[in-house]
Amino acid sequence: MRPERIVILTGAGISAESGVPTFRGPDGLWEGHRVEEVATPQAFARDPVRVQRFYDARRARLAEVVPNPAHMALGRLDREWQGDLLIVTQNVDDLHERGGARRLLHMHGELKSAWCLACDSRHRWEGPLSGEPACPACGAAGRLRPDIVWFGEMPYAMEAIESALSASDLFVSIGTSGNVYPAAGFVELAAHAGARTLELNLEPSLGSSRFHESRLGPAGTLVPALVDELLG
Ligand code: OAD
Repeated sequence: MRPERIVILTGAGISAESGVPTFRGPDGLWEGHRVEEVATPQAFARDPVRVQRFYDARRARLAEVVPNPAHMALGRLDREWQGDLLIVTQNVDDLHERGGARRLLHMHGELKSAWCLACDSRHRWEGPLSGEPACPACGAAGRLRPDIVWFGEMPYAMEAIESALSASDLFVSIGTSGNVYPAAGFVELAAHAGARTLELNLEPSLGSSRFHESRLGPAGTLVPALVDELLG
């Protein structure tokens, strides 16, 4: 049966071939940095300069990378798919947007967004946040933080995501290790709704056995093939 309502979850593996490091594994970001030192609200309260520099470096790196064939293929799917589609990414890079995806939610936030802790406004941000820049809305200095969901914080847009999952008939998980909840549990929500579930990953993820089908290989090859298949 041809699916009508697709939900796609992506993780760091989809950006790996663009040169953005994944989190886990030998060259992963969490090998070089302790999560508790850069990715928690407590770390930010303790040492804001260190946390800002960590995200400033990652934001600056975005200017040096480009979308790969997997991002481009999902952009094409978004343009051409007539049914419902929601792409949920755990990634904080902007490669999906640059690949043409529009029906997209960043559940873990975005590097190119700054959030003012003084007035609660959010702003598109390209440059560094270290150096205590002023909030464009309220003028408060040093109150902007990266608009990234840190450990212990609530992912964004969960209501919209859960509602799409519960109505989906195809769920595809791409390039994610399945270590981090709630994203790691989406496969079960989708399966419960009766969706076919498919994993595309370089290696079996932690939750691999929960998918109806697992295709192993690089996203840059597997995703364009899947999109060709879906668009017929
Ligand atoms: P991980 O680094 O945990 O996992 C990346 C997955 O991608 C692994 O299973 C790799 O095998 C796979 N992979 C690597 N290269 C690939 C390629 N070329 N093609 C296909 N798959 C490939 O990253 P995530 O699962 O995204 O959260 O991590 C989830 C969350 O943990 C992140 O959003 C981040 C992190 O802590 C926050 O910062 C809140």
